[in-house]
Amino acid sequence: MAYKKFYITTPIYYPNNPPHIGTAYTTVVADVIARYKQSLRYDVFFLTGTDEHGMKIFREAKKRGFNVKEFVDKQAEIFKKTWSKLLISYSRFIRTTEKDHEETVKEILKKMYESGDIYKGYYEGFYCVDCERYYTPKDLKNELCPIHLRPVEKLRMESYFFKLSAYKNKLLKFYEENPEFLPERYKNEIISKVKEELRDISISRPKKYLEWGIPLPFDENHVAYVWIDALLNYVSGIGYRRNEKEFSKYWPPDMQLIGKDILWFHTVIWPAMLMSAGLKLPKRILAHGFITIGGRKVSKSAGARSLDYYIDKFGVDILRYYLVRKFSPFKDVEFNEEELRSMTNAELANTLGNFVTRAFALYSRYNEILVFTEKHHLEVEEKLKNAVEKVINNADRFIEELKVKELIEEIMRVVFMLNNYFNEKEPWKLAKNKQYEEFIKVMFNSFETLVHIAALLYPVIPQSMNSLFNYLGFEKPLKIVELKEYGKNIDFRRIEKIKPILFAKL
Ligand code: MSP
Repeated sequence: MAYKKFYITTPIYYPNNPPHIGTAYTTVVADVIARYKQSLRYDVFFLTGTDEHGMKIFREAKKRGFNVKEFVDKQAEIFKKTWSKLLISYSRFIRTTEKDHEETVKEILKKMYESGDIYKGYYEGFYCVDCERYYTPKDLKNELCPIHLRPVEKLRMESYFFKLSAYKNKLLKFYEENPEFLPERYKNEIISKVKEELRDISISRPKKYLEWGIPLPFDENHVAYVWIDALLNYVSGIGYRRNEKEFSKYWPPDMQLIGKDILWFHTVIWPAMLMSAGLKLPKRILAHGFITIGGRKVSKSAGARSLDYYIDKFGVDILRYYLVRKFSPFKDVEFNEEELRSMTNAELANTLGNFVTRAFALYSRYNEILVFTEKHHLEVEEKLKNAVEKVINNADRFIEELKVKELIEEIMRVVFMLNNYFNEKEPWKLAKNKQYEEFIKVMFNSFETLVHIAALLYPVIPQSMNSLFNYLGFEKPLKIVELKEYGKNIDFRRIEKIKPILFAKL
């Protein structure tokens, strides 16, 4: 059977500072989506990486006394190491200083040039190095960058331009014909901005002004503007030209996850560039709000703690769980350690974890009775079976609609239901009173539901669910599609006789 492909991307991050809770938010959610799609038997390509050219990186490297290339090499390693700690399962980590990416940028720019969409002119405007973008006087807040509230630089220089304005009608037509492309929350805003103020954009800088970038293929004295270079990572990341087979299999992206700060680049400039280069357009750009601490957008400069701090303090799964449980495509969300603690204690430690400990303890105690149960004595509890099947049947739709948070809530409802079932049936009493038939039924359904929960939660909390699968007697985690029909998964003879603690209470 041919599996459906699913190509998902995160923005590539500026590596001037290590990743923080804000960048982890996008990356963890993308990872959870990628893992769900994989679990649902999609052929997934998940791309993330680092955006290594531009003024910001150049200045940061110089400030710290580094050769720029050595600096980005070191910083990219920090990203990779942190993502590996967070169990991010990317297919490729792309760096914009890689040779194949640089070749791709040149080839695409050449195509755009040949389409007649690039011309030479003069740029005058205000530039924010932190944003790596230009602002018009109207955009500024008290003459400061509207995002960073820091002074901007007035620039005037020779530059190449991309005829973005020529794409106005094509873009509007594309949005109309592909209603899924724009994120719902920002649709009207983007469309009216495209209608009102679509101007050509500067796409290069003279080399004598900034040499840290990719030279233009039609003028070696200019380097590409960092955003033009960066956006094309989505093209080079799956092997444009270098690996035609992979490229034609995965292109175009199915889901591009971004923060709301970079909407204009991804919903306007990016599709216009692809039209100009003659490539198919992405299916969907999905944006989310910011993570804030004390109401302020988290960033290194805002003094956020390191991800290592959070990972070491709470553990990988708990941090992943909290980030996904808070996810919203509509609004900013406040990261709050107190809430993290109470939420994960209530849902993971006290409910799921506690249930697992009790169920395994009881299993271990009455192991001999359970192990010798004949298969045909096992009776399915319809209520649990239906609840589990409902979640499984809806999982893909939830993911497609970016309802990751809601999907976790649905799964947790099953966990609560299972917990209540166990408490109501009181299997420990059944065993004590030698009502073995009923006891076996309760234990069987508890463990059968648990296997399903393990598969359903694995994409979010892979570390603990991997252990749970092992305790349940599986060598490796089962994908959702690898689960057998409800009632056919558990083999009492394979379950371990232990009393596991899945989540330490915080
Ligand atoms: N390098 C560009 C993106 C190029 S993509 C072709 C860039 N990098 S960035 O390092 O500033 O990171 C941008 C992304 O990081 C945001 O769009 C968002 O996805 C994520 N976040 C960074 N801080 C964040 C929060 N405080 N909250 C949520 N997401 C945050 O822009």
